[in-house]
Amino acid sequence: MRVPGDKSISHRALILGALATGRTRIRGLAPGGDCRSTRACLAALGVAVSESRGPDTTVWYVEGRGLGGLVRPSTPLDAGNSGTTARFLLGVLAGQRFSATLTGDGSLSRRPMRRVADPLGLMGARIGTTGGCLPATIEGAPLRGIAYEMPIASAQVKSAVLLAGLHADGVTAVTEPQQTRDHTERALAAFGAGISVEPRRVSVVGGQPLTAADVIVPGDPSSAAFWAAAAAGIPGASAVLDGVGLNPTRTSFLGVLERMGARVDVRLDDVSGAEPSGTVTVRHASLRPVEIQPSEVAGLIDELPALAALATHGGGLSVTGAGELRVKESDRIAALVAGLRALGADVEEFSDGFRVSGDRRLAGGVADAAGDHRLAMAFAVAALGARGDSLIRGAESVTISYPGFFETLERLCA
Ligand code: S3P
Repeated sequence: MRVPGDKSISHRALILGALATGRTRIRGLAPGGDCRSTRACLAALGVAVSESRGPDTTVWYVEGRGLGGLVRPSTPLDAGNSGTTARFLLGVLAGQRFSATLTGDGSLSRRPMRRVADPLGLMGARIGTTGGCLPATIEGAPLRGIAYEMPIASAQVKSAVLLAGLHADGVTAVTEPQQTRDHTERALAAFGAGISVEPRRVSVVGGQPLTAADVIVPGDPSSAAFWAAAAAGIPGASAVLDGVGLNPTRTSFLGVLERMGARVDVRLDDVSGAEPSGTVTVRHASLRPVEIQPSEVAGLIDELPALAALATHGGGLSVTGAGELRVKESDRIAALVAGLRALGADVEEFSDGFRVSGDRRLAGGVADAAGDHRLAMAFAVAALGARGDSLIRGAESVTISYPGFFETLERLCA
């Protein structure tokens, strides 16, 4: 099967396309609500984004306005449920010549924005938050480059600072405590920006123009992780996932599946673009318990719910050093633990992680996804191993990253 386009890469293609000169073409753009939020915000900033639907592929076009070419929005920009949209736009808007207001839904309005507003403030940005959260007002200001050491491992923060750096005087450099996904670095290079990348440090010179690019977005490995987990957990099952993004900063979960005992085969099919892709095959085998170390968390941050779901099928999993999960679309530690328990799992909650026992077959029950797309999918994967039926509240949230998830699940179970 094929999963929808990568959400992270899609946001970057849309935003860099907007800042570039010329028409950017994007194939495989993520279809979910988060990228719709980015498209809507860009439209409000004067960027024309259109689609041309063909029988096999849809091509999206972004008419770039060039650096400094965005226009003042007449209404607040609504980032919806999307942390990536909000944080990237804070970076982009900080150096414009107008002011704007950024809002989000209930979940996004509880998520921390100081982690972005603080470094942008050091660059000269004028950002007013609501107690460190959205709504935020950004008064465009002249920016200067900084050398920033990030206190937390976050690709969103790194990217926001680099996007502001494009609009700043001089060099902007970011050092991260752990390697996070490097899609922004790859996309900047694909759009013709000169950047310098060293291990855990990236820098960009401000003021350089971007040139429109042809972007092919591979399937989202974080979505593929749910089918990989389902196949690994169900005796006799296997999943063949085509066209999955294989950027090494995103595929650590495949190594964890192997450590748990699953049989995993990866074939690199396309290395021609900025992002490699290929075919991932996962087969069930008997599972064993695995411990995730804090140093591994940044590379697994979006896949931990899928891995926790798999652990309920057998094996078990313990995770520490993952306090960041508490500030995702939901408090992903509390809501994951509550939901898996409601399905009958033996789970322990830590302040910075959790432990799922693989010894207890689930009974099934009612789990609340807390409006969080990845939890809805994780509970579905866990429920596949239960003796009885399960009900997932808030299951419609899957449309954020994976419209059609339950239709595909139904087809697979038929
Ligand atoms: C993302 C980075 C991660 C991830 C999110 C997407 C990105 O967030 O959890 O789903 O596209 O850069 P953090 O940077 O907050 O870790």
